[in-house]
Amino acid sequence: MMRDALPAAAGAPATDAAWAALREAASAPYRAAGRWARHWARGKLAGDPVFRALLERGELPAQARVLDIGCGQGLVASLLQASADAARAGAWPAAWPAAPSASAYTGIELMTAEVARAKAALQALPLQPRFVHADMCRADFPACDLAVVLTCCTMSTLRRSRRCWHACATRCSPRRAASCCASATPKAGAALPSASASTAS
Ligand SMILES: C[S@@+](CC[C@H](N)C(=O)[O-])C[C@H]1O[C@@H](n2cnc3c(N)ncnc32)[C@H](O)[C@@H]1O
Repeated sequence: MMRDALPAAAGAPATDAAWAALREAASAPYRAAGRWARHWARGKLAGDPVFRALLERGELPAQARVLDIGCGQGLVASLLQASADAARAGAWPAAWPAAPSASAYTGIELMTAEVARAKAALQALPLQPRFVHADMCRADFPACDLAVVLTCCTMSTLRRSRRCWHACATRCSPRRAASCCASATPKAGAALPSASASTAS
């Protein structure tokens, strides 16, 4: 289980409270895509430790062009926006690395319904996320600074596709092929998933 390892600086919000507020903020836009989409967003952000870990470990750099492969309904985009908003409002925990501030976001997703939900909920965000309905094994990847791949089934598809890895490696600058955070349904007391970064030569 994730515990707050570092004390918050004086005056900064406690990290648990900050995370709860971020979760709510990142779930709120999904109202526009219906109750189910919002409940799913809230449940996933609350139950899957990988999202908090991305922020707490500083896995999402500043001013990055982010490519989210197998993006589902675009939770990472919503979290990026919520993080930027929280930082601007002075509500970012001092104990965490700097808040991510994506300069661009592209999500690639196979399922039509997920893409529709992502667009309905998030297209109007200031981040202006772009959602592409495509198979990751065939899609043209945009130039990016960081490719994010979340969860096991996306990763297993990616691992099978040499072409997909090659596209990651050649489109990511500066040669950061992928930052993969594998997540599984968390169990009580389970360790956080590990994050890894691959660098193309
Ligand atoms: C378990 S979900 C994770 C969604 C999102 N990354 C998240 O963490 O909320 C995996 C996603 O990968 C998508 N996916 C699986 N194979 C894919 C492929 N070949 N191309 C694009 N997306 C794919 C699925 O449709 C699904 O939305």
